[in-house]
Amino acid sequence: MAFANRDLTGIQDFTIDETMYVLDKATEMKHALLHKDVQRYRLADGRDLLAALLFYENSTRTRTSFEVAAQRLGMNVTGFASVEGTSVKKGESLRHTLDMYEAYLCDCIIMRHPLDGSARFAADHLGIPIFNAGDGKHEHPTQTLLDLFTIREHLGRLHNFDLGISGDLKYGRTAHSLAIALMAFEGIRVHLFSHPSLAMPQELLDMMAESGMEITVHETLMDAARNTDVLYQTRIQKERMPDLSEYDKAKTISEFTEKIMEKTRPHFGLMHPLPVDKGAPSIASALDKHPKALYKTQAGNGVPTRLTELALALGLMGDDFTGEPFRESQCSEDFIEVLPIREKPLRQDVSIRPIRNNGVVVDHMAPYMEEILTQVLKVRERRDIYRAATVKPASRPEDIKGMLMIEDRRLTEHELKIVASISPGCTVNIIENGTVTGKFRLSLPDKVCDVPGMMCANKGCISRPEHQESVSPRMMKAGDRRVSCFYCGQIMHTNQIV
Ligand code: CP
Repeated sequence: MAFANRDLTGIQDFTIDETMYVLDKATEMKHALLHKDVQRYRLADGRDLLAALLFYENSTRTRTSFEVAAQRLGMNVTGFASVEGTSVKKGESLRHTLDMYEAYLCDCIIMRHPLDGSARFAADHLGIPIFNAGDGKHEHPTQTLLDLFTIREHLGRLHNFDLGISGDLKYGRTAHSLAIALMAFEGIRVHLFSHPSLAMPQELLDMMAESGMEITVHETLMDAARNTDVLYQTRIQKERMPDLSEYDKAKTISEFTEKIMEKTRPHFGLMHPLPVDKGAPSIASALDKHPKALYKTQAGNGVPTRLTELALALGLMGDDFTGEPFRESQCSEDFIEVLPIREKPLRQDVSIRPIRNNGVVVDHMAPYMEEILTQVLKVRERRDIYRAATVKPASRPEDIKGMLMIEDRRLTEHELKIVASISPGCTVNIIENGTVTGKFRLSLPDKVCDVPGMMCANKGCISRPEHQESVSPRMMKAGDRRVSCFYCGQIMHTNQIV
């Protein structure tokens, strides 16, 4: 079965066919729940299935709707709703807490955690399905599935419409996941509004534009609302802001009022993942019973969608799925290309003395990477003789390249992988008795890990050492000289990883 034992850590864990299948099944489940058709939804009866809900952050809707969904299926639930009273307060790592729930033979884990990438780490670490109920400012995929369900229920389609996203586009994980999910659909025109300090991250905007979305950034919430079929309003995420003056500025311009509602299209729908902060309301409470206010129905849709997600991952439904299944991308370990050796006469126009006897020359590096590589390869500590230089090759004076020459040194395959990760495209020459005996071009491996000193640039990522979670950084190739963090998805240039 395509869904059995699968994790849901990010919305891209599902293909578009799988997403549509989940929404169709959730529609059936919603009907069954409304009509108390117990036979249709109590799929886990007699199977002794146990879900662990591990909530390191506050929640009403996500935790309760998962709990209700599990109970309606006929599952038992355990876990915690807050770290108060748990051994997390004694300094226990996420890894050890997860290990306990696996040892107690839980069948799946539903977790909310403040660190970006924590759910991906959990999925990598454990063999049971992990549901990401929100990881830091990163993603909230089960919220997104209920959001897609609600949009489709309201508009009858998930393509060719105007979507507004407003509020906190910088820290709001629900806004990020929804934008990512809708990249797969045709004809989405996105209208953004936020305080300028809470704008959508540029790398996400770039991805949205590349996917074909039309993006308009509006100067007022009124402008965004009047141009949309559905507007997804979000709360200003005060708890994630390092600088609270950001919050004070943003909250004054972010309320969706009755006056704005009056200007919306006849079939308009107002959504919100909730909660609304009563101290700085993102929606005026007078709108709660307005026929265009969808957010109560939207929250209620959390039960049939999450019930479906649980049932699929636990193998209780999904055997009639016939669409395109998700395929894990296969990582290639190939990063070394052997090049022919061409004898070249000694150059007189460069001031660098060639290696006379034995050693390696790393050439055509990204400029100014030599110093970093000497540290990473511990050249000084090994008392090797090295020369690092950023030179202008005479043949291409417009190009600046880095070179590193290390005498009496061979590079192991692991070290070559490090060089390839930091400076893809470079060449490595092996010198023996003053002659080039081997020449390689190094490219960025699909998977980059074990590079000494490597770190994700996102300070909120679970792999950062200051969080003391003992999660080794791991990067995935994301373009020519770009990598993305395996855990939190942060896109980085290769020279940012050490
Ligand atoms: N939408 C949402 O995540 O709500 P809770 O924080 O109440 O779970």
